[in-house]
Amino acid sequence: MANTTLMMIKPDAVENGHIGNILEKVTNAGFQIKALKLTQLSKNDAERFYEVHRERPFYGELVAFMSRGPIVAAVLEKDNAVSDFRTLIGATNPEEAAEGTIRKLYATSIGENAVHGSDSDENANIEAAFHFAGRERF
Ligand code: CMP
Repeated sequence: MANTTLMMIKPDAVENGHIGNILEKVTNAGFQIKALKLTQLSKNDAERFYEVHRERPFYGELVAFMSRGPIVAAVLEKDNAVSDFRTLIGATNPEEAAEGTIRKLYATSIGENAVHGSDSDENANIEAAFHFAGRERF
């Protein structure tokens, strides 16, 4: 059944000029873009988005990184969108990511790892609502 996931192209990948390459890989893999924008998270936005990681030692670094520059946010639709997108992006740590995955190609470290993908259908819906108004989704 077609479902959706929420992608962010993170500040490192935007800074390094990879927006076009990443969107091409995403659409070539069969994902349909249902919402898309270039935006920037405030520190408060990043704190709220990553609330679940608040107690982790890397939380402050993660919030600073995710709010330091523009990101691309997108809602992507495909059969098994959440798990297929996580396969396409590869492991959190690019050193462990499979060949050909987006993180293997474009991520620089475990913290600055180029892309975000939702970890469940429920979180995909919460994260899509975080970034997009109803009239921005198609
Ligand atoms: P993501 O899986 O998209 O969402 C949580 C993010 O926290 C993760 O990507 C990384 O950007 C970051 N992260 C996870 N583990 C570490 C770590 N050990 N050190 C720094 N950042 C991390």
